[in-house]
This record gives sequence, C-alpha cells and structure tokens, in this order.
Amino acid sequence: MVIPCKCQELEKVKRVWKSSGINSEQAKHTFAGYKPYNGITQLAKETAIKYYKDFGDIKETRQNSIAFLGQVGSGKTHLSIALAVNFLENKKIPAIYMPYRDTITSIKQNMLDKEYYVKQLSRYQLAKILLIDDLFKGKVTESDFNIMFEIINYRYLNYLPIIVSSEFTADRLLDFDEAVGSRIIQMCKDYMVQIEGKDNNYRLK
Ligand SMILES: Nc1ncnc2c1ncn2[C@@H]1O[C@H](COP(=O)(O)OP(=O)(O)OP(=O)(O)O)[C@@H](O)[C@H]1O
Ligand SMILES: [Mg+2]
Repeated sequence: MVIPCKCQELEKVKRVWKSSGINSEQAKHTFAGYKPYNGITQLAKETAIKYYKDFGDIKETRQNSIAFLGQVGSGKTHLSIALAVNFLENKKIPAIYMPYRDTITSIKQNMLDKEYYVKQLSRYQLAKILLIDDLFKGKVTESDFNIMFEIINYRYLNYLPIIVSSEFTADRLLDFDEAVGSRIIQMCKDYMVQIEGKDNNYRLK
C-alpha cells in the first residue's frame, strides 16, 4: 500500500483550493460571521446550514440545489461562499466558484477557440458543486442566455447541484428566461431563500 506523505496531501489541498476559484479574502465569509438581524436573515442562515447538513441525503435528487435571491447587499454571496468553503474544507468536495459576469465575458471572448470554449464550459458543467454568483447581473445578451442554458441544462440533466446567488427574484427569473429560470427553481425548490426590501441591505447598516 502506498501512503501519500503529508506534503503530497498538502499539495492536493492547495490544488483543490486553487481550482475552486475562491480566494483567501472570499474564504473569510463564514457562517459564524453572518449575523442575522431579523426574521428573514435568520431564515437565510438556517436554510444555508440545513442545506449543508442535508446535502449527503439530497445530493443526487432533483432538489439538490440552493438559491439566494433578491435584495442587493443582503448577504447572498456571503452565505453562498460560506457553503462552498465548508464543502471544500470539511466535506472535501471540490466546489467551483463561477463569478457570472467575469466568466461569461471570458467565455465569449474566447468563443472562436473551440477547444478553449469546450474546456471552459465543461469546467462549469462538470463541477461536483457549482456556485454561480450574481447570475444575470448586468445586460444579458442572447449568447449569454445560450451559454447559461448549456451549463444549467447539463447540470439539470445530470443531477449536479448548484448554489445560485442572483438579484432576481424567482418570478423575475422565470419571466426573464423561462428555460433557465424554471430549471433553477425546480432544482432549488426545497432551499430557496428570497430576500426583499432595502432594510435587508447590510451595506447600508
Ligand atoms: N447578516 C450579515 N452579517 C454579517 N455580514 C453581513 C451580513 N449580511 C451581509 N454581510 C456583509 O455585507 C457585505 C455584502 O454582502 P454580500 O456581498 O454577501 O451581499 P449580496 O447579497 O451578495 O449583494 P449583491 O447583490 O450586491 O451581490 C459583505 O461584506 C458581507 O460579508
Ligand atoms: Mg453578491
């Protein structure tokens, strides 16, 4: 039997972290650091923790995903990252962070390079857990919809979990793009956090 030495294990941990796309600043967003200050923020935190605890049982089911929707500054990214960090650190599941706008821009810039395009796309299609941060932020074009459909639909068909943060509410998501929206809503049905109202913008506190 070959036992990997400590430094090999450490290298592996480093590789998984690097590949996740989460930097050390972002990794400071923990569950403990999220302080609920009213009913909805309490529910948001509880839902995130419940999802984490349930994950082993639900990971291969139709409702194996979670969404944080709505109000700007309400901690959607904070809780999404806290989840990804816990999956990486404690469950050793290689979660991948996809900052929506930067990723979509980079994919489009490289669309003519077919090989690179397929490689980029498959990183997000195949990830064990995919965190899509700020979905549909900014102006969204036809090709943005198509790229997101390719990613989400692949994950939908293969029962691969997503963590989604978006300023869109569920209704707006459906109106905006029914194909992507309805798949997300179905996947996140049991763990859907929707926050509305400027009172819940932590940046204004
Ligand atoms: N309940 C909370 N307790 C502690 N810090 C919080 C809380 N809610 C938000 N924050 C902090 O406020 C800042 C904004 O939160 P975050 O970026 O997660 O919001 P968001 O909902 O993703 O906003 P946006 O829609 O602009 O992306 C972050 O620094 C985050 O750590
Ligand atoms: Mg955010």
